Amino acid sequence: MAYYLGIDIGTSGTKSLLIDESGAAIAEATATYPLATPKPLWTEQDPEDWWLATKSTIKAVMKKSKLKPSEVRAIGLSGQMHGSVFLNAKGKVIRPALLWNDQRTSSECDEITKRAGGREALIRMVANPALTGFTAPKLLWLRNNEPKNYEALKVLLLPKDDVRRRLTGELATDVSDASGMLLLDVCRRRWSTELLAKLQIDPSILARVYESEEVTGHLRPEVAKELGLSPECKVVAGAGDCAAGAVGNGIVKQGILTASLGTSGVVFCHSDTPQYDAAGRLHTFCHAVHGKWHMMGVTLSAAGSLQWFATQVCIELAKKKGIDPYAVLNQEASAIPPGSEGLFYLPYLAGERTPHADPNARGCFIGLTNKHGRGHMARAVLEGVAYSLRESLAIIGELGVPVKEIRLSGGGAKSTLWKQILADVFSKSVCTINAEQGPAYGVALLAAVGDGAYKSIEEACKATISVVDKLAPSKGSQKAYNRAFPVYQQLYRSLKDRFVDISEIMQMP
Ligand code: XUL
Repeated sequence: MAYYLGIDIGTSGTKSLLIDESGAAIAEATATYPLATPKPLWTEQDPEDWWLATKSTIKAVMKKSKLKPSEVRAIGLSGQMHGSVFLNAKGKVIRPALLWNDQRTSSECDEITKRAGGREALIRMVANPALTGFTAPKLLWLRNNEPKNYEALKVLLLPKDDVRRRLTGELATDVSDASGMLLLDVCRRRWSTELLAKLQIDPSILARVYESEEVTGHLRPEVAKELGLSPECKVVAGAGDCAAGAVGNGIVKQGILTASLGTSGVVFCHSDTPQYDAAGRLHTFCHAVHGKWHMMGVTLSAAGSLQWFATQVCIELAKKKGIDPYAVLNQEASAIPPGSEGLFYLPYLAGERTPHADPNARGCFIGLTNKHGRGHMARAVLEGVAYSLRESLAIIGELGVPVKEIRLSGGGAKSTLWKQILADVFSKSVCTINAEQGPAYGVALLAAVGDGAYKSIEEACKATISVVDKLAPSKGSQKAYNRAFPVYQQLYRSLKDRFVDISEIMQMP
């Protein structure tokens, strides 16, 4: 029997998952690390932490599974997208990586759009507008703000690709993750020499681009020895966590969508052709399916909103009583009627991407009265995130993409209450599948394809993934949500200019 490892380098931690060639999960391990916010709206991590977590989780799954080194035939890598790992000529990390939810690069986004010859020209070159979370603005930020560090820069990598470099010595990336750098000609699946020239970026700092199932190298012998693996173990290109998570949910053909509730929330659909939203509200990226694309909308703080709320109001209390804070919030929220009795939550804790690409947007509770308590606030958080995902779903609908089935995934989808709220807010049934490991599972399957266990990722998904549960919308709640949704949408528009004022106040010395 052959075995495959999927590794997902996430924002809160790294997960390693071992599967066998039939797709059954054999062992998994997770290791967490901190996130630094040196200034409001800045987020950074140390790439060394990702590496230590990768090594410790691989060792843990090898120990649990008791496999021989030669039995693990290939590894697939997935990770948080858009992060910038800056390396010098000696391969040393120059400064902490800027992450996907870092919002410091507004002026660099303007600079990119200007240098490209305007928004339309930029979208023509790389299929997407410049957004603060993407990688190219981070590179320009380094050039504009830390010229010494920029001078030392020789290589720019994405988070999972720095882990690949340490595993194999190769500088490589995959088409899906590379799409989020804003430097890839997404339609042609190769670096945009046109945009690179306009931005005066030396193309030699970029890694070689592969399709997701292609083998990019093998483990360095000393690394293989330390991890209990074989130097013959292949490492396939893998995918950014959104595309990898979609593969792990079987989203490899048109008609099936996924809504995932991780730190960020993503509504993701497969597309056989590279279509894009002219207003740039959705991202159009290469898919991890060979020669295909995907579109997605991103809510920056989805389960991240609930995590923030739980941390602020509940964790100490729950610790004292020895109970799970999420169980407390879930139970209290389920006692509150749909619509949270007029309380709204806007999930813009880290600014927003879809549909409002606005780094100034801020999180809000609106409609508070004396009657509202913690349960109302918890429910409003779940509903606010669901409204935000519905906005992405609506844009996908506007583009004429068929929506036959919605599959839920991510940590937040473990809550039956949140799943029901999503079904009710979407006015559509939502499904759960048999595989729960998301991105790590998706890239473990890509590793199996790269090793030849399956002919294609479509074949691998067909053999391993099926729907196990379907939740229909409840009629009573839909009425409340259809009344509340347009109000939710209007709240951002009403507050948009005030968010600019708030942002200016935040930046005052
Ligand atoms: C996608 C995005 C996030 C991160 C989270 O564009 O920024 O989903 O990939 O890990």
